[in-house]
Amino acid sequence: MYVVLGAAGNTGSVVAKALLDGSQKVRVVGRSKERLARFEILGAEAFAANLMDSGALTRAFTGARAVYSLLPPDHASTDYRAQQDKETNSISSALEAAGVTHVVALSSFGADKPAKTGPVAGLHAMEESFRQIPKLNALYLRAGYFMENTLPQVGIIKSFGMMAGPVRADLALPMIATRDIGAAAADALVKLDFTGHQTRELLGHKDLTYSQMAKIIGAAIGIPDLAYIQLPTEQVLQAMTQMGFSKNMATLMGEMSDALNSGYMHALEPRSQANTTPTLVEEFVHNVFVPAYKGQATSA
Ligand SMILES: NC(=O)c1ccc[n+]([C@@H]2O[C@H](COP(=O)([O-])OP(=O)(O)OC[C@H]3O[C@@H](n4cnc5c(N)ncnc54)[C@H](OP(=O)(O)O)[C@@H]3O)[C@@H](O)[C@H]2O)c1
Repeated sequence: MYVVLGAAGNTGSVVAKALLDGSQKVRVVGRSKERLARFEILGAEAFAANLMDSGALTRAFTGARAVYSLLPPDHASTDYRAQQDKETNSISSALEAAGVTHVVALSSFGADKPAKTGPVAGLHAMEESFRQIPKLNALYLRAGYFMENTLPQVGIIKSFGMMAGPVRADLALPMIATRDIGAAAADALVKLDFTGHQTRELLGHKDLTYSQMAKIIGAAIGIPDLAYIQLPTEQVLQAMTQMGFSKNMATLMGEMSDALNSGYMHALEPRSQANTTPTLVEEFVHNVFVPAYKGQATSA
């Protein structure tokens, strides 16, 4: 039986679905049983638990062949790094108490750095914490920059006729669709072909800049001259707090953008067949971005 944390989310839902499609027994975990109901229909066991509740997680992990683990983002958190550390401690204690032998944990490129990378520093701390667990074999999937991070551009394009953000327009990023991360995690969970503590980068189909992304999105939504403009981090922080981010979370995102822009945060592995994943950015734009853009247009 596999336990999938964050099963209602981007990557966890793909992991759970892939395992169920492969006729594996799956226990899906999230805070709301209702949001897990779609997996129950497919044969999964739904387990409602908060990641902060180590006792509940221990019960959820008991009997697991392996666990898919992640630290969910929380845009409203007033101290997200402390929240990440509490969740890490809770998950670590539960992995140890339940005697789990294999975990596939979602991490990020840049998690080699202990600090100055915003939320990614919490993933470094998570990896370090899991390394202390006796008898645990762990695979840290250090994913690239989510293509889904471009979805807030829907509103920006609608309001200003351009794309804008804190990341350099000419910075080539390893952009990955979250479905590719879920697929890679499910594959690793089935194979369990890792021992000790291993990192594996997942770098998407190819590196891409925001300027190139704007061209692809523009062509798909009928704005062929769509441009991307880099804004000063301070201006983006203000806009993010207006969009509902806490000041703390906006500041951490700003720190991460600065780390990307300076090159401090970067992928370590040269691109290879093993770390290149299938989804083209054009497919993501067609299947995910355009429907989101049209959905907003319809409801506006
Ligand atoms: N954005 C990027 O470019 C990027 C790149 C590399 C790595 N990452 C990392 O990827 C991770 C996010 O992965 P994701 O997108 O798959 O996650 P996600 O979809 O944002 O969230 C996963 C699920 O976790 C559940 N959850 C939230 N808080 C919870 C809590 N306190 N207790 C139990 N469950 C909780 C939520 O479901 P319920 O509401 O139903 O509980 C949510 O759907 C983060 O650690 C992020 O740092 C991001």
